[in-house]
Amino acid sequence: MEITSASFVISSASVETCPTGNLPEYAFIGRSNVGKSSLINMLTNKRKLAKTSSRPGKTQLINHFLINDSWHLVDLPGYGYAKTSKKDRRKFQHLITSYFKERTQLISAFVLVDSRHNPQKIDLEFMEWMGENQIPFSIIFTKSDKLKPGALERNLEFYKETLRQTWAELPLFFTTSSVKRKGQEEILTYIHNINQQL
Ligand code: GTP
Ligand code: MG
Repeated sequence: MEITSASFVISSASVETCPTGNLPEYAFIGRSNVGKSSLINMLTNKRKLAKTSSRPGKTQLINHFLINDSWHLVDLPGYGYAKTSKKDRRKFQHLITSYFKERTQLISAFVLVDSRHNPQKIDLEFMEWMGENQIPFSIIFTKSDKLKPGALERNLEFYKETLRQTWAELPLFFTTSSVKRKGQEEILTYIHNINQQL
């Protein structure tokens, strides 16, 4: 799928103030600093559409981007940033969980995990929560440029093996690098195919 237009719509501090209407949307979620905002920029070929930072905790609101005048990409705050105050962590947690529970326009989510690390408890627990709440998601292995191909393959296999211990069926996996522009075609085709069926 070709992206012909991508523009910022609105930042929302709660799910109630997100855009109305029934355009389908796809949301990016994962630990702070995993590369959610960078991935949105890579997918849309716009370097500065979503705000990125080398410091975790950059995205603090629900950000909607309109793609090809027909669907939304959604950038969410990250979870699990240790230095966030307890109060703020609760606030973000509430924002994220209420978004996923209440946002009827959401078609599917992408849970991003850093391809360099072993499966982290916080991500596995989040995926279980998504499962319990019947929210469809796939997994994106980010920052693949930081690993040699062999190590990437091993980490991917180990991640799948870990998930098989609790999941009867594995979610879809994508591997991306926002620096090397890897994974764009696969993710956009996946979204396009779903949109065609709606
Ligand atoms: P929060 O908004 O804080 O939750 O973070 P985020 O998940 O949106 O991460 P963001 O896109 O801001 O990227 C965090 C850092 O990782 C930045 O310094 C990016 O340049 C870097 N980064 C993101 N994606 C990649 C990638 O594919 N490869 C490499 N090498 N660095 C990346
Ligand atoms: Mg961000």
